[in-house]
Amino acid sequence: MDKPKVVLGVSGGIAAYKACEVLRRLTESGHDVQVVPTEASLHFVGAATWSALSGHPVSTQVWNDVHQVPHVRTGQAADLVVVAPATADLLARAAHGLADDLLTNTLLTARCPVVFAPAMHTEMWEHPATQENVATLRRRGAVVIEPAVGRLTGADTGKGRLPDPGEIFEVCRRILARGTAAPDLAGRHVVISAGGTREPLDPVRYLGNRSSGKQGYALARTAVARGARVTLIEANTGLPDPAGAEVLRAGTAAQLREAVVEAAAGADVVVMAAAVADFRPAVYATGKIKKKDGREPEPVALVRNPDILAEISADRSRPGRIVVGFAAETDDVLANGREKLRRKGCDLLVVNEVGERKTFGSEENEAVVLAADGAEVPVPFGPKEALADTVWDLVAARFG
Ligand code: C5P
Repeated sequence: MDKPKVVLGVSGGIAAYKACEVLRRLTESGHDVQVVPTEASLHFVGAATWSALSGHPVSTQVWNDVHQVPHVRTGQAADLVVVAPATADLLARAAHGLADDLLTNTLLTARCPVVFAPAMHTEMWEHPATQENVATLRRRGAVVIEPAVGRLTGADTGKGRLPDPGEIFEVCRRILARGTAAPDLAGRHVVISAGGTREPLDPVRYLGNRSSGKQGYALARTAVARGARVTLIEANTGLPDPAGAEVLRAGTAAQLREAVVEAAAGADVVVMAAAVADFRPAVYATGKIKKKDGREPEPVALVRNPDILAEISADRSRPGRIVVGFAAETDDVLANGREKLRRKGCDLLVVNEVGERKTFGSEENEAVVLAADGAEVPVPFGPKEALADTVWDLVAARFG
């Protein structure tokens, strides 16, 4: 079988050097990559580097090998075009349909999925001109990955960093796997909670659970690849931030509730994949609880935490918002799931059985998605991403 053909566009920002790693990941995973740099980007990384790493000649303009009509062929032949980094100037030229170099020609002739990974200073990213260009590109079906927050070129920090190259590669891999399917969550804001809350008992101990956060992260990554704006609220996962997701951190159930309620106010979908502690210690000991010779420890009194899923489901102030819950069960899985769906009042409930190889910490899962309208969709044992995609299929179908 022919290798999937990827065009890697590189525009003139300092983050161009990180595109070498994106290229490496793509070629090593069996993709045929044609690098199309802009003239300005060659100030940062030279054509020799791109040519050596990709195994193809490299050109910035349409006047080389004219007999092969590269300004049309390159885009037509591609299965995916990814531009990383995409500068403010490149986004502007793409949004306005300019065709003044090989990359912009390629963007106009490509009929495959197109991904932009912008990188620039915060002011440039936030400028209404850039934001309108990004909105235009998204409206036309491109996936524009939100920049990461962190250290920028100089001493300053803010939003505008190119996301981790490995994560950009992951977005590309997922979009290629979707073939020519449109980004069906474009224009939607999804909020996902992931991980497990920890309820402090004293300065060194907490009550926690075994949730790894992998299912929530799989939901975030797949949602980015389907074009959604993603807010991921993570609790104690230690996992790398998925490219394109805004990541907020929460430790306890109370902190998670605050973050979810605030983000949910503007969301189209809320997915509660986090394992939220049902109880917390009634009293927090400000000093470490000590062993006392010959005495049994004092029992730990617990109080209930608020049920965030039930609260968001009951709040119908945002009509049309879809709320998805998760339930891990050990017995009577379906019967308990149906009862829980009714009790929590959410639109979809993903029910899974806690088992050796699935659910906590593993890469795989097996579940049944129950819907408030009575539908039941079994998801066979497989990667957590496959379950995530089924959830988004059901959500997208509800948006109609
Ligand atoms: O009741 P149970 O803990 O089994 O419900 C699981 C679902 O409810 C998950 O979606 C979880 O994120 C959510 N939940 C919550 N707040 C709690 C407990 C669970 O939102 N306090």
